[in-house]
Amino acid sequence: MLDRIDQLRAEIDSLKAVSFEEVELLRLKYLSKKGLVSVLFDDFKSVPAEMKREVGQRLNDLKTKAQERLEELKSGFSSVETELSAKPDLTRPSGNNQPGSRHPLSIVRNQIIDIFGRIGFTVADGPEIEDDWHNFSALNFTADHPARDMQDTFFIATNPDILLRTHTSSVQIRTMETTKPPLRMIFPGRVFRNEAISARAHCIFHQVEGLYIDKHVSFADLKQTLMYFAKEMFGENTKIRLRPSYFPFTEPSGEMDVSCLICGGVGCNICKHTGWVEILGCGMVDPNALENCGIDSQTYTGFAFGMGIERITMLKYQIKDLRLFFENDVRFLNQFTGAF
Ligand code: DAH
Repeated sequence: MLDRIDQLRAEIDSLKAVSFEEVELLRLKYLSKKGLVSVLFDDFKSVPAEMKREVGQRLNDLKTKAQERLEELKSGFSSVETELSAKPDLTRPSGNNQPGSRHPLSIVRNQIIDIFGRIGFTVADGPEIEDDWHNFSALNFTADHPARDMQDTFFIATNPDILLRTHTSSVQIRTMETTKPPLRMIFPGRVFRNEAISARAHCIFHQVEGLYIDKHVSFADLKQTLMYFAKEMFGENTKIRLRPSYFPFTEPSGEMDVSCLICGGVGCNICKHTGWVEILGCGMVDPNALENCGIDSQTYTGFAFGMGIERITMLKYQIKDLRLFFENDVRFLNQFTGAF
């Protein structure tokens, strides 16, 4: 009898199960009325009186052990019934919940919205799937402009009039078509270009467009607005520089650089040893773009600008590879916990 108890005990110690159902089968095998452990209790009657004490104790131990072992196995699984019937224990400490964090691009987008909000710019949105008119034609792009090329823009094969917007400038047109000046707005959003993905380029990225239309708006207003933005975004000591450039929808057009945040303008890898980093395109809205939206270009003038959120975020947080923004790696994203 003692041998049999030892044997069962060793067996029970090494029990394994891969599912809740399997644990239940083991329970039947050992502990049900006709189970291997229960049967030993039936045999107990025939144990000689002088051994009853020891055998009895060992038998009880075996039964307890079997019950414990099966409970232990069971706790690794759950059945629909146990899940439904389990009452939550509200006194238990909670699990190790990791606080989430905003994506760095969202943090910077919110900062941009906030900075322009303080000088009266409101926010609007437009569709990511655009038509040729809003993305190109109304913005004064010529029919043969290279941006219209299949190499640069995602078109829909069955309808070349439909494309994924290549910039947020399309929202300028949508807004001017439907809203009478004065206008003072920014348009954040996703844009798409047919680019191979690398550390410096991606087929999806984010822009914020700005538009200010009123009577007597001048280039000085544009410059002052952008200088205010640069100082709020990058710090009071930031300098700006405007270089002449070309965009079909602005005249004159410029590109704005800020003094390099990393080296303070002395020259480093990030600014390619020039001391300056380009952050946006801008200009006075071309009269053709105004007229295309039914705004009288004799009465109204305005300025516009467009910036890439990735570029600004990379500068602000010294992020060297654009791909990090799209990989969802929590080791990267965790670093922004606490920032809004
Ligand atoms: N849409 C331009 C781009 O994606 C950026 C831009 C330049 C926007 C000048 C503007 C602007 O509003 O005035 O490259």
